[in-house]
Amino acid sequence: MTISFEGRVAIVTGAGGGIGRGYALELAKRGAKVVVNDLGGARDGTGTSDAAQKVVEEILAAGGTAMANGGNVTDAAQMEEMVARAKEVWGGVHILINNAGILRDKSFAKMTMDEFRLVVEVHLNGSANVTKAVWDVMREQNYGRILMTASSTGLYGNFGQANYGAAKLGLAGLTKTLHLEGAKYNVRVNTIAPVAATRMTEDILPPEFLAVFAPEKIAPAALYLVSEDAPSNMIVSAGGGVVQAAYITLTQGAVLAPDQLTPEGVAAAWDQIVDRSGEIVPQNGLEQSMLIASLLQKAAG
Ligand code: NAI
Repeated sequence: MTISFEGRVAIVTGAGGGIGRGYALELAKRGAKVVVNDLGGARDGTGTSDAAQKVVEEILAAGGTAMANGGNVTDAAQMEEMVARAKEVWGGVHILINNAGILRDKSFAKMTMDEFRLVVEVHLNGSANVTKAVWDVMREQNYGRILMTASSTGLYGNFGQANYGAAKLGLAGLTKTLHLEGAKYNVRVNTIAPVAATRMTEDILPPEFLAVFAPEKIAPAALYLVSEDAPSNMIVSAGGGVVQAAYITLTQGAVLAPDQLTPEGVAAAWDQIVDRSGEIVPQNGLEQSMLIASLLQKAAG
């Protein structure tokens, strides 16, 4: 079955280069009208350029439909304007891929709180700004597909990226609640954690990995996650042609009797608390409370 985006309007933030450019080109090739957003700054977020316009020219040259937007995702008013313009010209917004991002890597000891806040501002609050701007449009249309961009740093940690990791896991958390709130309106929300050789990873990935991790290799997973039949609430990792699912799981744990509910009792039960047999993936926070209630009932009965 061919996955088509004919008749769909898509916004891709940070699509002036790297992974986002790959998304924009492939969406346009498959029929979407694409808003290519990019501030066009350097890797640390400073400066501006016409990066978005260049990608639009590539799309137009290939026979696709696209418009450039040089707005900053940290500026909510600019993002509202971008969405209003897409709606005015093309009649709606069906797909949003929050992909824009910057780095300010440093060990936490050396990181200033300004460097921490700036990275959270672009990735987490920036994605929330654009999502907020499309949210009502998607609810009213009864159709929306939103993709957040996390990272292995958010999911598993990486030395020197405390600011980035905090923002990235925040995006996976944002996905989980928006998935619940959007379900009724046919708005599906997922998270992608890419691994690609771009300017963002040029000093992390060894040179022999550059071809293996070409940024274009992320687009197939991302496009599936914003397609008509997309799943929702998933965290998907993609890199080098390998696509994986990541889960936030919960162990069955230990039920501690009142006289065991002490730090010493927790230490004594530790092996059982971390035992992964019978681990579940709760679909919402309430499921955890229900599990606790059923474990208590079982222990009492
Ligand atoms: P990139 O630096 O090539 O792309 C990021 C784009 O976002 C740039 O074109 C930049 O100009 C734009 N941008 C930055 N701040 C912006 C702002 N305030 N408003 C609008 N646009 C802005 O890097 P890459 O690798 O393509 O990254 C894309 C996304 O994937 C980012 O969210 C990144 O954190 C994430 N990611 C990348 C990984 C990789 O292996 N390359 C690993 C994990 C996550």
